[in-house]
Amino acid sequence: MRPTEELKAEHDGILVVLEVLDRISEKIVSAQSVPLEHIDQIIEFFGIFVDKCHHGKEEDFLFPAMQAAGVPKEGGPIGVMLSEHDRGRRFVAEMSNLINAYRSGETGSLHVLTNPALQYSDLLKSHIWKENDVLFPMADQKLSQSEQERLSREFEKLERERMGPGTHEAFHKMIDSLSEIYL
Ligand SMILES: [Fe+2]
Ligand SMILES: [Fe+2]
Repeated sequence: MRPTEELKAEHDGILVVLEVLDRISEKIVSAQSVPLEHIDQIIEFFGIFVDKCHHGKEEDFLFPAMQAAGVPKEGGPIGVMLSEHDRGRRFVAEMSNLINAYRSGETGSLHVLTNPALQYSDLLKSHIWKENDVLFPMADQKLSQSEQERLSREFEKLERERMGPGTHEAFHKMIDSLSEIYL
């Protein structure tokens, strides 16, 4: 599998979780109860699967390889992607703080959480669209076959070293069970 195909497959899983998050936000807004552990699972997914694993592959390997192949970082698509990753991190940190505040008794925090949740969902959906339709085709075109093979090996190594065995599969199970409940 090409490195960009692997990243696109991860995007598909991320999009499912964003749909689940949207449904959860709707429930909160219409005062329906949502199990807190589902929100915890989703925030953990954003921190580990999305940020540590997926954004790690892009930021530490794909983007530098594209830069080395002549795609500029500043004032170009890579700079935009990096700043969107940063904005996303801030929304996830906000969600995490709000769920903690809710647990310690600030009952209004759950409703407030739908703001960063909806903003994160919008941001990431358009981010994924830009990567799938603009950035990845550019990478496929600019990176040589051997460079793409090197990236695939780096991705595998990142998963082994930063995620640990079985973590990826455990997240896929989580995606399946949440989508069965909410979608
Ligand atoms: Fe990205
Ligand atoms: Fe991505």
